[in-house]
Amino acid sequence: MKFFIDTANLSQIKEAQDLGVLDGVTTNPSLMAKEGVKGQQNILNHYKAICEIVDGDVSAEVIALDYEGMITEGEILSALHPQIVVKVPITKNGIKAIKYFSDKGIRTNCTLVFSAGQALLAAKAGATYVSPFIGRLDDISSDGVELIYKIVEMYNYYGYQTEVLAASVRHTQHILQCAEAGADVITAPLDAILGLLNHPLTDSGLEKFLADYKKVNG
Ligand code: E4P
Repeated sequence: MKFFIDTANLSQIKEAQDLGVLDGVTTNPSLMAKEGVKGQQNILNHYKAICEIVDGDVSAEVIALDYEGMITEGEILSALHPQIVVKVPITKNGIKAIKYFSDKGIRTNCTLVFSAGQALLAAKAGATYVSPFIGRLDDISSDGVELIYKIVEMYNYYGYQTEVLAASVRHTQHILQCAEAGADVITAPLDAILGLLNHPLTDSGLEKFLADYKKVNG
């Protein structure tokens, strides 16, 4: 399973990259705004800065909702750097744009996916990644992880190449549940990724090893 970090914060991206287990980055307009990145040129420069930190795919989202606008923005984004994946919302125009990009060899991430039907259309259009938002489904008393199981099963059954990228991952347990469900990728905040390290028996075991070492070695 690939690990993407879900942030536009450069120092967190660097910290995850330095850990040696990072496969890519996802951003969205809210995450870019959170970092105070505004204005088209600054936004493009920020994506380039992210690409220079990581080796893997970097999802950059289009803002336009009309088909022509999506195509124009997506082409600008993909020309920016070979690691850029154009992130497109699952709308009627979005599906048409994904098909256009797919035919041109431009990689895409179909975002804001909340149902198996939406994921089916994304795969048919040739999306590189599909992003089901599991945390936001959990927020409305639905089962986000259950949707990952359904999409993975459906894609496996038909042999779709679209990778299932579990998004809106909120905590460490979500990451483990997505791994069990067979997600190809999870994108998560840094603290959820680092949370995988934690276990009280590791802490107490380490403390005991060091104490025993000091008893003998001073
Ligand atoms: C990433 O691709 C998504 O935009 C992101 O995971 C959404 O997360 P949120 O639901 O926590 O905002």
